[in-house]
Amino acid sequence: MPKKQERDLTDVLLSSQKKYKPSKKIIKEANVKDYEKTLKQAAKDPVKFWEEAASELSWFKPWEKVFDDSKKPFFKWFTGGKCNLAYNALDRHIETKTKKRTAILWEDEIGRTRKYTYQQLYWEVNKLVNALRGIGVKKGDRVAIYMPNIPEIATAMLACAKIGAMHSVVYAGFSSKALADRINDARAKVLFTADGSFRRGKIVDLKSITDDAIKETKSIKKVIVVKNNNAKIKFNKRLDVWYHDFIKGQPVEAKCAKMDAEDPAFVLYTSGTTSKPKGVVHVHGGYPVGVLRTIKWVFDLRGDEVFWCTADPGWITGHSYIIYGPLLAGITTLMYEGVPDIPKPDRIWKVVEKYKVNVLYTAPTLIRAMMRYGAEWPAKHKMASLRILGSVGEPINPEAWKWYYRYVGKNRCPIMDTWWQTETGMNMITPLPAASLKAGSACKPFPGIIADVVDKKGKQVPVGKGGYLVIRNQWPSMIRTIFNNPKRYIKTYWGQIKGVYFAGDVAFKDKDGYFWIQGRTDDVLKIAGHRIGTAEVESAFVSHKAVVEAAVIGVPDEVKGEVIKTFVILKEGFKPTDDLKIELKKHVRKTLGPVAVIKDIAFLDKLPKTRSGKIMRRVLKAKELGQELGDTSAMVN
Ligand code: WT7
Repeated sequence: MPKKQERDLTDVLLSSQKKYKPSKKIIKEANVKDYEKTLKQAAKDPVKFWEEAASELSWFKPWEKVFDDSKKPFFKWFTGGKCNLAYNALDRHIETKTKKRTAILWEDEIGRTRKYTYQQLYWEVNKLVNALRGIGVKKGDRVAIYMPNIPEIATAMLACAKIGAMHSVVYAGFSSKALADRINDARAKVLFTADGSFRRGKIVDLKSITDDAIKETKSIKKVIVVKNNNAKIKFNKRLDVWYHDFIKGQPVEAKCAKMDAEDPAFVLYTSGTTSKPKGVVHVHGGYPVGVLRTIKWVFDLRGDEVFWCTADPGWITGHSYIIYGPLLAGITTLMYEGVPDIPKPDRIWKVVEKYKVNVLYTAPTLIRAMMRYGAEWPAKHKMASLRILGSVGEPINPEAWKWYYRYVGKNRCPIMDTWWQTETGMNMITPLPAASLKAGSACKPFPGIIADVVDKKGKQVPVGKGGYLVIRNQWPSMIRTIFNNPKRYIKTYWGQIKGVYFAGDVAFKDKDGYFWIQGRTDDVLKIAGHRIGTAEVESAFVSHKAVVEAAVIGVPDEVKGEVIKTFVILKEGFKPTDDLKIELKKHVRKTLGPVAVIKDIAFLDKLPKTRSGKIMRRVLKAKELGQELGDTSAMVN
């Protein structure tokens, strides 16, 4: 069992020596057979590489220019081209044999199942498109989606894309306040939700959370509620409508909006260094180009295969590799709503066996949780269908990698450790199945991507030395801007180190050019792979009447990777009791949602600060972990 997530250097160094070579069978089946040659070829002319990738999609009108950097850093791809994200993910398959194929397989924790062919999904989406148009949703509008992992989240996203309205999916583990903030920032007109979802044996009442959120917003004109449960809920006749009533009697054909390649397709909020999340904007043209090319090459998908990405559609992983990627590729995506260990610790392996999953894409935190239950649980299931495995969300420690390789992949399935971000839209640093692997390394940049590790001035650091992870070129599925905040876009990504995209991660390269990602450099935490800003958590603490000031750090955790520890200064008159700790934990959970797991709270009289008043979280962290304090010359108290 890994003692802590922070990388044990000897473990990493040993891992950087040993290579896992792909089998002849894997190479024979691979979409890319010669890994090194493909990398070299793409590197000669990345723009040409991406142009070639774009020609795999359908365009209503071809682009005039592949790449335009005349207004950098507001880069553009495929300008002059007309297309639609939903058309590429769905409509075009209706003209081919793919229409008969299963698009979505669904199962939830309590064992209910559903199945949609591409043809059925197309009809469902069209009904919704017509109904949404009927209430005035049009190109350029924003629609918020706060739903469990059920097929209707896919139809809602696709219907918005087909109309040209931007969807803003908010993860159902966020609180009503977080939902309201996101609705208000995007000024969303319509909200999709459900009357509940079943998780860990409990019912999550999403509708009452959205009811609370609506009170804090002015823009929502309609709430569309999926009946996923049968409980009685409060229904507001003026605002609420059942999903099934909403689409009743609607025609099964609908016109697809012809979008400019650079028109925004969706916004997805993610945490940064301030307490306000960033609305990352992706577009109709470039986004699917990157997503399709990566899902095909990284996961080697073809034909009638079943892909299971265990993320949630509320994160970018779900957008790109539960919904859009598999559908763009015309394969079958498995959606599972629930946790992996209910009723027993082998639920996840049971699902793999039952649906004959070919590719399983999951997160290190889940692998570590399954490791804890023991290898006897995956051993109960055949899982002979598995060909390729994937990992995403945080660095995977070599020990978890090896367990995954041995007990899940039975030593025959290569593991694709994919580094990427909400902002990048697609896998950026990742092996391909035909590459030689190292346990715990994300391997090399995807073809057409030029990544590097540099110092503050942008100079490449020597092999084995840690530095900032940057991307030197541009790529089609990259973030276009931050919704309503282009200045923050420039500053966050292009204003840190001159001329390159600043990822916010630290990494090093080994002598073979393999990347080893170490974690975030900024005040962003990764709790079970979920991204959350220290500033957001601190402001949630400070919104409690007893708190003057709070400082949040991430401390290593065996399973979750990181958990939150908070140092709190109380207002005069409040006593540092255990009851208050419990109350504060509850308050933060209510403010941010269950994603913010607070492990520990400590009451202090003072926080370490710089002269300019910035909290030195680094010092708190070093003390907490018993490490060297480093340079503390800037500290005043
Ligand atoms: C951050 C992005 C897009 C994937 C889901 C998370 C960390 C992601 C890896 C990996 C090491 C990783 C980075 C990155 N991260 N994948 N394979 N190895 N670190 O998306 O919420 O936008 O978070 O997740 O720190 O910057 P996100």
